[in-house]
Amino acid sequence: MNVVDSEIVTSILLKHNYQLTETIEEADIILFNTCSIRDKAEQTLLYKLDYIKHLKKNKNIIVGILGCMAQRLNNELLKYNSVDFVAGTDSYRKLPNILEDILNKKSDKVNSTDFDYYENYEDITPEYKNKISAFIPIARGCNNMCSYCVVPYTRGPEKSRNINSIIKEVEYLSSKNYKEITLLGENVNSYYFEDIDNNKTYNFANLLEIIANIDKNIRIRFTSSHPKDLTDDIIDIISKYDNICKHIHLPVQSGSDKILKLMNRPYNKEQYLNIINKIREKIPDCAISTDIMTGFCDETEEDHKETLDLIDKVKFDFGFTFIYSERSGTHSAKYLKDNVDNETKNRRLNEIIDLQRKYYLENNQKCIGKIYQILVEGQSSKNENVNKNQENNEISNNEWFGRNTNNRVIVFNNINNKVKIGDVIEVKVNNCTSATLLGEII
Ligand code: 5AD
Ligand code: SF4
Repeated sequence: MNVVDSEIVTSILLKHNYQLTETIEEADIILFNTCSIRDKAEQTLLYKLDYIKHLKKNKNIIVGILGCMAQRLNNELLKYNSVDFVAGTDSYRKLPNILEDILNKKSDKVNSTDFDYYENYEDITPEYKNKISAFIPIARGCNNMCSYCVVPYTRGPEKSRNINSIIKEVEYLSSKNYKEITLLGENVNSYYFEDIDNNKTYNFANLLEIIANIDKNIRIRFTSSHPKDLTDDIIDIISKYDNICKHIHLPVQSGSDKILKLMNRPYNKEQYLNIINKIREKIPDCAISTDIMTGFCDETEEDHKETLDLIDKVKFDFGFTFIYSERSGTHSAKYLKDNVDNETKNRRLNEIIDLQRKYYLENNQKCIGKIYQILVEGQSSKNENVNKNQENNEISNNEWFGRNTNNRVIVFNNINNKVKIGDVIEVKVNNCTSATLLGEII
């Protein structure tokens, strides 16, 4: 979401005759697009502001903080000498005016953090960074109010984008030969749009089907799903269309019913497992990934074991694991106690990661010998694990990578630069690590 928000901001400012610089040192205006999801994300910005302080000593620079931290901490951030303005998650269109006011010395410090119902993402073509794969925001905000989560406060209530504007963007990307799009929303499956002019309503399954039919050469991904909104209709549409990627990211957060209740996640372990079974029945080759949070308030060893048991049952293909980070203002910060000690949190995190990796590796091993179509994304950054596993083979320094429909990364030797970014090629998998498949072009 932040990547696409930055692309939108870039697009708005380029239209107002601002230019992008290569390095931060060359810039007259520095904008930080920030994340508040965990404390560590916020600390990263504060650390960067320290560096900016030094730059500002020698040069007149305008510094703006955008995004979730601006929304959440607005006046607190304005207390920093180095910060000139904060612009929240609904303020991107106001940036040219804010900058003009500061440049013309009409305002000293600016706080622009009101929620605005005007659609952020309509009628602006983002300055796409990637030329083969684009993110398309289809909804923003969240009404789920998971007790630990700051997103409903920083991104506001859920708003779905006009379907006609989404279709227009997909058609534009198709005309530019894009090969992949990822539909984005904090809660993407709850997309719902009423087209009053045509007296029609569209849910996520409808949207997915319309988009799948626009260009069969464009692969479609989406993220993130909430288990309560992943309906049978959506699963059916995914299975029906070859160009909808066979991968579902379905954050579970915990395997303990007690913890799920405390988190205000409206499903239990059994219901989650039922959804997984349904996906596997209807789409047997579908990869499933997840987010897990450990060390939430009142999480006991029993609760932790429930999470490990869930992992044993699902055998996820990949995922992300986090330690609970208390966010002020959320329900759990106000009413629950962050009472699992750090040592226990870290130990549980490591146990979860170790078990997850075991299944990532097992699932990857099942891919050995198979042939996959991949979209070539570019040169692979040197991967130590890959090299270790390749000990007996000659290690090439022309390793490239792409992803298959399951979102699995496949590294291959691009002999004589035979293929280029954006090509769709077939590779045979010969080896793997827990994170990557190793293949050869066939
Ligand atoms: N602490 C730790 N992890 C969090 N997430 C959301 N809020 C928090 C928090 N307060 C994680 C969830 C979510 C992912 C995007 O970030 O696992 O799915
Ligand atoms: Fe946060 Fe996701 Fe829950 Fe919404 S559904 S409150 S974004 S964790």
